[in-house]
Amino acid sequence: MTANPHQAELAERRRALRAELQGRLPGETLPMVWEIGCGHGHFLAAYAAAHRGELCVGVDQELDRIRRAVRKQERARLTNLHFVRSEAGLFLEALPPGVVFKAVYVLFPDPWPKRRHHKHRLLQRGFMHAVADRAGEGTPFYFRTDHEPYFRDVETMLQQHPDWRLEPWTEWPFELATVFQVRAEKHYSLVAFRR
Ligand SMILES: C[S@@+](CC[C@H](N)C(=O)[O-])C[C@H]1O[C@@H](n2cnc3c(N)ncnc32)[C@H](O)[C@@H]1O
Repeated sequence: MTANPHQAELAERRRALRAELQGRLPGETLPMVWEIGCGHGHFLAAYAAAHRGELCVGVDQELDRIRRAVRKQERARLTNLHFVRSEAGLFLEALPPGVVFKAVYVLFPDPWPKRRHHKHRLLQRGFMHAVADRAGEGTPFYFRTDHEPYFRDVETMLQQHPDWRLEPWTEWPFELATVFQVRAEKHYSLVAFRR
């Protein structure tokens, strides 16, 4: 019998995710364009259509959003695009060995504006270490938000991060306004590169 049912559930989720990813990304895989918190998949579906030679994977923890994203992928018959329901940290842990990132995008992550909720924010120093472990030298990380305080905090964190070099004015190679970008009055973007 398992002492902690939550731990057992997490272990099972990790095992299932590992099996799903092994099945979807078998053997030698191309470096992956990874979008975290992809929502309904607008950005990555458009990106994958414009870059059919690149392996693109979007993750979101909400099942209904992933279902809508998968419908886009199927309608457009994009064989280079996968949407996976997963929490981002769990996805990183479950990635098959040898899979590395070509680029990482985080667009309009939940800002958790109250100070006591900052611990729930996705972009933290430790998380960026884990992303860096799967990124080769020069791999870009693209971040965009409409929440200025979150933007400034991430900017400061990356300025001080041993694994990333901030180059905020680098032009983005691909643009498509996401659902949240369309709603936002203003947004802030940065780019950092793996050292
Ligand atoms: C504010 S929405 C932005 C969606 C989309 N990127 C856009 O710009 O329209 C944030 C998304 O991140 C997802 N999300 C939040 N935390 C996550 C995590 N730790 N792992 C995976 N997805 C996450 C949410 O489910 C939600 O779909």
